[in-house]
Amino acid sequence: MGRIKLLLPEVASKIAAGEVVERPVSVVKELVENSLDAGATEIKVELVDGGKKLIRVQDNGSGLTQEDVALCFKRHATSKISTEADLERIATLGFRGEALASISAVSRVTLKTSDGSGERGYQVEREGEKLLRFIESAFPRGTMVEVRDLFFNLPARRKFLRSDRSELSLVVQFLTTMALAFPGVKFVLVSNNKETINCPAVSSVGERVYQLFGKKVLDNLMSLDYEEENYRISGLSSRPFSGRLDRQHQFFFVNRRPVKDRMLTAALTQAYLGILEKQKNPEGFIFLDIPFDQVDVNVHPAKAEVRFRDPQRVFRLILRAVDMAAREESLVKPILVGEEKPETEETRLEGKETGFLSQQTISQGASGPSSGEAKALLAPEGKPASFRPGVIAETASEREPAPIRVLGQYLNSYIIAVSEEAVFIIDQHNAHERILFEKFRQLEEKRAWTARQMLFPPVIDLTPKQQLVYREIQTELESLGFRLEPMGGLSFALKEYPDIFQEAEASAILLSLLEEEEEGKFQSRREKILATMACKAAVKAGKVLTVEEMDFLASELFATENPGLCPHGRPVVIRLDRSRIERTLGRQPE
Ligand SMILES: Nc1ncnc2c1ncn2[C@@H]1O[C@H](COP(=O)(O)OP(=O)(O)O)[C@@H](O)[C@H]1O
Ligand SMILES: [Mg+2]
Repeated sequence: MGRIKLLLPEVASKIAAGEVVERPVSVVKELVENSLDAGATEIKVELVDGGKKLIRVQDNGSGLTQEDVALCFKRHATSKISTEADLERIATLGFRGEALASISAVSRVTLKTSDGSGERGYQVEREGEKLLRFIESAFPRGTMVEVRDLFFNLPARRKFLRSDRSELSLVVQFLTTMALAFPGVKFVLVSNNKETINCPAVSSVGERVYQLFGKKVLDNLMSLDYEEENYRISGLSSRPFSGRLDRQHQFFFVNRRPVKDRMLTAALTQAYLGILEKQKNPEGFIFLDIPFDQVDVNVHPAKAEVRFRDPQRVFRLILRAVDMAAREESLVKPILVGEEKPETEETRLEGKETGFLSQQTISQGASGPSSGEAKALLAPEGKPASFRPGVIAETASEREPAPIRVLGQYLNSYIIAVSEEAVFIIDQHNAHERILFEKFRQLEEKRAWTARQMLFPPVIDLTPKQQLVYREIQTELESLGFRLEPMGGLSFALKEYPDIFQEAEASAILLSLLEEEEEGKFQSRREKILATMACKAAVKAGKVLTVEEMDFLASELFATENPGLCPHGRPVVIRLDRSRIERTLGRQPE
């Protein structure tokens, strides 16, 4: 059964009119598009004399049935659309049903094909508008179209063709573009018996870029992946601060169809303002997937232009996709959950933890047993989860530990530290908060602190709202060691508080525990209470730290379960990878 039908005149008349065959590359384009529409996974293009003498395109696609062969050279004969409504949602590369007709009108065409059902295949030979032969002839599944002597019957047109080399280079450019659009298809180009392109099928655009342009180009690209209500942008574009002097690596594909569009180019340029040197242009291998009814491809006979229903949306989307990817890529990136963290020198911790924390935040002002408790609080006894013996044994045998070394403090708030592999900027408050949070959690599990009972308890005032919260979480607070006694009115006496805090700290911590509950950030209210305690007890931004204190924070931080985030979910560390530093400064990584 054939699939090709002649379009009704009212549909045919709606199709953007114009000549499709201008030069060899237009023939190659139409034939390759047909192969892709036929589901080919291998396409071979051969040219003789830049295609002026011969263009041969062979594919392993669906092939044509006998009925289809009889129809395919007729004008407006297509299997791809049938009604006017179909023009609103074109999913194939072709749809005009004119290519084979136009090509065969100006050349000598041979088509060989088989749809793979049985042994049979067909061969058609035409010259200009004339059918010379239509015979049965064995052929493997797929189609081959040979186009000889382009414009043999239109000498005026023939004269306008350029040199073989320049016609060839247009074909190379076109096939490069198609190869990018369809990485899963094998493309081969042979010109005057010389193989010019050979791209076996691969599974990603990145691999295609590697095949076509090499490693250096690929290394300077970042992945794009952004989606918003049925519009998706994917592909690759220049990493910040790379780019090229020319605009040759700018490719746009709308639903896999290569398009040239000023708006798209402008969007890409704008997306890179400020992250490229002035004289550089961004590279882009950009795939836009949008609902078929959001784009009109029926505006240009060669289908190279499209019209977007909502061009501004596309523009914004490109800006956003690049912006997101560039942020990810940017020199400074917070370490997030689950990322690799540098090993620490455990030995360096010993003897330092008491010094810093007992002095700075915890037991300052406290007396008697509390200093012992404070020490317990800070010593890394009962190693955090990431230092379980089994785990450490594995990793230690695999790679050398990369100790982290503190260089100094910036703005009295950030610790600058380095390892072999990266430079770290650590927020001292957030880091301490994370460390204390995990310690509190461990201690709390072991009930390792006691409540201090006050003979002359401080008195605090609670607003009605705070009183409500207090009543709600009273049990938890008491089990942690906070106990209040009503004194009438707004006044409450703080009768007991955890002895890891000073008196003044304890009231402040309690008050902040009574602030509005934050929704959803913590696994439990207990976690929230511990996080608040950690936050209040942690060293503040703006405080000058000694080298020992910074050493302590840096090494303890990376020993926590999650050094990337403070208990409230804010980032703790910015990591500047060595490879990124070297690449940015134009050094080849070793
Ligand atoms: N390589 C091919 N493999 C299978 N079918 C093909 C191939 N080339 C052309 N055809 C069939 O011939 C029809 C006419 O092709 P063409 O003139 O390019 O029009 P269009 O691609 O716009 O439909 C196509 O609709 C398709 O059914
Ligand atoms: Mg076609």
